[in-house]
Amino acid sequence: MTYTLTTPLYYVNDKPHLGSAYTTLACDALARFKRLKGEQVLFITGCDEHGQKIQRTAEAAGLSPQAHCDGVSAQYRELWERWQISNNRLIRTTDPRHRQIVEQFFARVEANGDIVEGRQQGWYCVACEEFKDDPHEAQDPECPTHKRPLEWRDEVNLFFRLSRYQEQIEALIAQPGFIQPASRRNEVENFVKQGLRDFSISRVNLPWGIPVPGHEGHTFYVWFDALLGYITALLEQSDAPDLDTALSRGWPASVHVIGKDILRFHAVYWPAMLLSAGLPLPAKVFGHGFLTREGQKMGKSLGNVLDPADLLERCGRDAVRWYLLRDIPFGDDGDFQQQRFSDLVNNDLANTIGNMLNRTSSMARRWFDNAVPPASAAIGSDHPLAQAAAQARTTVLQGLEQLEFRSAAEAALQLAIAANGFLNEQAPWSRMKQEGTRDQVADDLYAVLEAARITALLMAPLLPDLSERMLLQLGQSIPDSSATAQPDGAWLTQLEWGALQSGAPLPEPSPVMARLELSEPL
Ligand code: MSP
Repeated sequence: MTYTLTTPLYYVNDKPHLGSAYTTLACDALARFKRLKGEQVLFITGCDEHGQKIQRTAEAAGLSPQAHCDGVSAQYRELWERWQISNNRLIRTTDPRHRQIVEQFFARVEANGDIVEGRQQGWYCVACEEFKDDPHEAQDPECPTHKRPLEWRDEVNLFFRLSRYQEQIEALIAQPGFIQPASRRNEVENFVKQGLRDFSISRVNLPWGIPVPGHEGHTFYVWFDALLGYITALLEQSDAPDLDTALSRGWPASVHVIGKDILRFHAVYWPAMLLSAGLPLPAKVFGHGFLTREGQKMGKSLGNVLDPADLLERCGRDAVRWYLLRDIPFGDDGDFQQQRFSDLVNNDLANTIGNMLNRTSSMARRWFDNAVPPASAAIGSDHPLAQAAAQARTTVLQGLEQLEFRSAAEAALQLAIAANGFLNEQAPWSRMKQEGTRDQVADDLYAVLEAARITALLMAPLLPDLSERMLLQLGQSIPDSSATAQPDGAWLTQLEWGALQSGAPLPEPSPVMARLELSEPL
């Protein structure tokens, strides 16, 4: 069975921001974890390119919508390459094959009697591409998210008969694992309890969209088209654009990872659309929190937006990934604080992990002929570091399985902390000055090197670069978690205590993690 996971398909109204990088990095860690465990993975990301918002942005820039989308989606592609995101697909909803998938899907929904004509009146937020149910003010209402005026709409559209799916959607969201974290379930439940209303799935007078077959003048509402991007993305390069073929490539999705603002679309509208077309439902929708910066919402008007390309350039992949995954519980909102960012990177990665590895491999090389010291039978599974490693392994595997990246990161770090503590207690540098202690020192250094090896492997899904440098320093091979990996699950066996070979050469150490010195604000 394929493990299919998706990021949202990002609007191309603007260049990528840190919010999009956040979701994508987290999905990358999850995809790498699953590959390392030996699962077949299809990691989907992409761009959402139709609708009024994009059309207006292109007009304002004096470009055709297509030229505008080509430009911004290329920025996304480049950014993900530079971050070494291991996505297997990058779908663009302007891909001609997508239009055919949307048409085929619509035909099924229409044949099921779920498309009716109706009059749509209401306040619309173009930035959200969404009708707002109950604007707080009757006069000049604003979007609560975007703080921009809503626009009054009154037009004849095609509606999807969402109201027919009330019971099925109630049952679906009551399933414990479907909406995660569980704390997010309430808001969806409350929305559904109010009674599901049909929603419009077409627009008139909006040329930048996919035309609705058999309904002259209508284009698909951007969300109807975008959600189907998850299915088009399943197609392989050589596949004909056929809905059943696409579905056979990895549907249903194992998880849609999204921000909390678009939960309703994924946990209510999308499953109802799939039910109508007679298709299986995704197993899980995970709604993560929002990032703020130094306590403030990030926005262009405040001039405090963190550019992920810039951040990468100045701080590197490991630092940013570590901070976002290790400091913020994935379901909760999180605040990006520069001081805390550099403190964590320097303490956890440069000091705790970097120093542990460096000083241990230097001592081993100096006293044991540039090689892993010979371990005695005393270094078995009851050694304190063997036990710490087993504990870390269990917690990291559980944490990643549940998208609790923070607990996984902390558990991996704990192993390095335990190894440093052990080293300080044993103080092989003093012991080495005494007579007859060589065997004990060999055992102690072996144990710390072995803990470092396991820490590096546990870090592989979270910080693939640092993990690789650590493993190279230990003379180990690198497990492949990239998009082209052939998953064999060897990683799980390598995580077992005792796999480090005594006598294996130890390459010359060099620092695995540079300190982050940010003299200026990011
Ligand atoms: N195009 C739709 C998704 C369609 S999926 C079929 C969309 N795009 S978006 O570009 O506006 O947002 C993409 C994601 O970025 C959303 O999950 C949103 O929650 C997330 N974020 C936007 N700002 C964010 C932060 N400040 N912090 C974290 N995530 C944020 O919605």
